[in-house]
Amino acid sequence: MDIPWQLQVLFQMLLSWTLVANGHLEFPFLSLSTGHTSSPHNEPSDAGKFVILPKVVGGYSITIAQVPFQVSVRRRSMHERTYGLGLICGGALISQRVVCSAAHCFAVNNSYNPVRFYGPKLFVVVAGSTQIDQADRNTKEYLVQQIIGHSDYNATTLENDIALIFLNGYVSWSSKTVRAIPLATKAQREGTTCLINGWGKVTVVGKSGSLQQAPVPILNPSLCRAIYLLPMSQLCAGFMQGGIDACQGDSGGPLICDGQLAGIISWGVGCADPGFPGVYTNVSYFVDWIRSMNATLDYSKYLVMDSADGRRLATSPQRTWWLALAFLLIALSGG
Ligand SMILES: *[C@@H]1O[C@H](CO)[C@@H](O)[C@H](O)[C@H]1NC(C)=O
Ligand SMILES: *[C@@H]1O[C@H](CO)[C@@H](O)[C@H](O)[C@H]1NC(C)=O
Ligand SMILES: *[C@@H]1O[C@H](CO)[C@@H](O)[C@H](O)[C@H]1NC(C)=O
Ligand SMILES: *[C@@H]1O[C@H](CO)[C@@H](O)[C@H](O)[C@H]1NC(C)=O
Repeated sequence: MDIPWQLQVLFQMLLSWTLVANGHLEFPFLSLSTGHTSSPHNEPSDAGKFVILPKVVGGYSITIAQVPFQVSVRRRSMHERTYGLGLICGGALISQRVVCSAAHCFAVNNSYNPVRFYGPKLFVVVAGSTQIDQADRNTKEYLVQQIIGHSDYNATTLENDIALIFLNGYVSWSSKTVRAIPLATKAQREGTTCLINGWGKVTVVGKSGSLQQAPVPILNPSLCRAIYLLPMSQLCAGFMQGGIDACQGDSGGPLICDGQLAGIISWGVGCADPGFPGVYTNVSYFVDWIRSMNATLDYSKYLVMDSADGRRLATSPQRTWWLALAFLLIALSGG
């Protein structure tokens, strides 16, 4: 928790070198190692140079009880070493075992076609936490059973930037800081003020451990098309004058309009730069995809974890069970 930021930068850089060779895309993995790099004159054909949004800029602190569907997706190896490290992306709980997030968070090689996604064992999902580096009794931690990234995810245009994370257990609704958010099934009206959340960068150089939120209005689709040539499957939101936006580390997190999941934080040019609002996956466009992918999930199965996988799962009900059983056996045999 008290790791100096220089070390964190080093960690992130090592991680990013070993994990991804992703050209100009700035991944959440890389979020601490570089600032924003894109030129304000990018043509859509240069979309590969756009910076993926990592964090809420220009927002305010909130508690998880205000957005109980918000989760953080973390790299398990780092998370298990130091609680609070390993943030990759945000996500939104959409039903008891399913989190909706962005495909780019899980793509193995963003220049490779067809796209491949990382296996589920690399990740852990944390719900019910306001601080990225603090767990309390409402915090729930889940391993991942399966990751379904969109098969047409395009790393150049970031079209179809959507992924489902199938959790290795049912989320309990007993904690009031963990809830699902309904999907928006209709188009958002221009001017609607929506909300974004995240633990990403607060400014393009800084970093916040506390959940941030910012309001962003839905912009006119023709304006978005003019700036970025966006298709129907993407929408843009924010302020043309800049100042408030998502940034590195926020990717995959929800765009909430009228209490529904309307978008997934996907990308932008810089963070909160004037003239370049944030781009979001248009969730209502993908409702059928979400439902059909959900229908392929096997709800009777749980991932069998190898021994190293059991560590640090203090909140896992399975583990509690095994511990209880072990104690019982010891008590019975030992007398
Ligand atoms: C990604 O894919 C490209 C194109 O196939 C290949 O040249 C490159 O080596 C791959 N990079 C990694 C890290 O696998
Ligand atoms: C991604 O989109 C670009 C621009 O439309 C296209 O040229 C490219 O072939 C697409 N890549 C994949 C993998 O579909
Ligand atoms: C999003 O998708 C919906 C459903 O396909 C569509 O009606 C709408 O025009 C799209 N764009 C926006 C900005 O909502
Ligand atoms: C996925 O399917 C399960 C089981 O049928 C259902 O309970 C859940 O609501 C579905 N989730 C979504 C997001 O459609």
